[in-house]
Amino acid sequence: MHISEEINKRKTFGIISHPDAGKTTLTEKLLLFGGAIQVAGAVKNNKIKRTATSDFMEIEKQRGISVATSVMTFEYGGKLINILDTPGHKDFAEDTYRTLTAVDSVILVIDAANGVEEQTEKLMEVCRMRDIPVLIFVNKLDREGKDAFDLLDELEEKLDIKVRPLAWPIGIGADFKGVYNIHKQELNLFDSNKTEIEKDIVKITDINDQQIDDILGSQGEVLRSDLELIEGVYDDFEPEEYEKAQIAPVFFGSALYNFGVQELLESFIELAPSPLSRPTNQGDIEPEREDFSGFIFKIHANLDPNHRNRLAFLRVCSGTFKRNTFYKHVRAGKNFKFSNPYTFMAQSKLVVEEAFPGDVVGLYDTGNFKIGDTLTDGKEFMFKGIPSFSPELFREVQNQDPMKTKQLEKGLLQLTEEGVAQLFIRQPGNVKILGTVGDLQFEVIQYRLKHEYGASCNFKGLPFHKATWITTDNQEQLNDFLRIKSRNIVQDKDDNWVFLAESPFLLDMARRDYPDLVFHTTSEFKVTAE
Ligand code: G4P
Repeated sequence: MHISEEINKRKTFGIISHPDAGKTTLTEKLLLFGGAIQVAGAVKNNKIKRTATSDFMEIEKQRGISVATSVMTFEYGGKLINILDTPGHKDFAEDTYRTLTAVDSVILVIDAANGVEEQTEKLMEVCRMRDIPVLIFVNKLDREGKDAFDLLDELEEKLDIKVRPLAWPIGIGADFKGVYNIHKQELNLFDSNKTEIEKDIVKITDINDQQIDDILGSQGEVLRSDLELIEGVYDDFEPEEYEKAQIAPVFFGSALYNFGVQELLESFIELAPSPLSRPTNQGDIEPEREDFSGFIFKIHANLDPNHRNRLAFLRVCSGTFKRNTFYKHVRAGKNFKFSNPYTFMAQSKLVVEEAFPGDVVGLYDTGNFKIGDTLTDGKEFMFKGIPSFSPELFREVQNQDPMKTKQLEKGLLQLTEEGVAQLFIRQPGNVKILGTVGDLQFEVIQYRLKHEYGASCNFKGLPFHKATWITTDNQEQLNDFLRIKSRNIVQDKDDNWVFLAESPFLLDMARRDYPDLVFHTTSEFKVTAE
């Protein structure tokens, strides 16, 4: 098969949501359609439940399971679909942000009762930053929830994106009758006793068809006036606008009852982009190029503490990746070949001979890779767009066992390379400060330092609110700032200057007092320059 056929066949995407909106349930139902799993419940085990936060072994076990489900590949409608799993737990949000660098589109799940929640807004910010096309699934229509028009307004307002319903719910909760597929002019009837794939679909050619009233009673008239309102208020849906991330089509359903999921999947296949080009320091790399290239977006620790192997996840960006072939690790300037690269079909790992753009390959790593690293067939370019985001919690690392200082340093370095947290250094004294988005990471780090490296440490809370990366052309102003604010100045893993502000007010003040300094909230300045 020609490479462009392989590319067109693939859809690589992520499902994102605020915890509990139904991401896991929807993922599972999509896999059922693809025949990748036989029974519901298989993906569920992968969830890190909040109750498990104090049980580290449990976390580790969960992390182990999630290796197998980090990428879920299945075929549907002649397409090869790669779902990149994103952790639901908010403390692992940074993992999710990074995974979004490796997808070509996203399905955003919203709980019809809760509407747009905090985590949804943050995730959407990342999608907007990277112009990722988003398709929205409003879930849990079998339960009481917000009015559909109010929900659409809320989506537009809080997520800062134009929306366009392509399906419309008929009633909600106890009155939920089904969904009208605006695009296909089909009425899909809901039956809470049926959760299997087949369901009652009535094809309607004319919205005034008497059949609608026969089936829906007075809700038929409501449907007609709703549809009229939609046509009046919302612009026609243009697929190109969706691809440019300017509009998000909206679907409604109930993942639990497997309702509206097939419509979502079929529309997704029709609309979602195939593997797209990726930016590098030498311009965009098109997937159709002959030469192989890819980047590491995730690193997973091995569960066995005796073998500190890790699994690095590579997104193939161009050309064909081949087993047992030397590729260049551009940052390290060394060549590597991989004898057991994995893909993830039907929830099991399989050794692959070849992989194509859009595919994710798991590579065994003994500590050579960092998140963001590029592999090529020898070329020198490096992929961009894998930023660190500002952490929200900061703690100073206090060594509890001076005999194990080396182990502690090594452990901190490796764990932060894996992306568990960000490491900042403050001088003088080489003070190590960890930044995370959730409390859980500190517990995980402490546990893993002890069990994998034999090092023990405590954490001292620091009152910082945000990390901002500083750039400027005005060296004099920078020197001045570094001197005056020395207690708030640290350096990241690449020696960039970072300002830790105690509050939004103090950050604003710094911006005002030092107008030539630019304070960025992610480490990748070009994408988010403020
Ligand atoms: P998440 O991955 O986004 O965190 O959410 P998940 O799919 O785990 O769903 C969270 C809860 O919401 C689960 O209930 C799930 O069964 C329920 N749920 C998901 N989709 C629907 C839906 O369409 N309708 C209704 N009524 N419920 C839905 P739970 O009680 O927390 O978990 P479980 O005990 O059922 O596993």
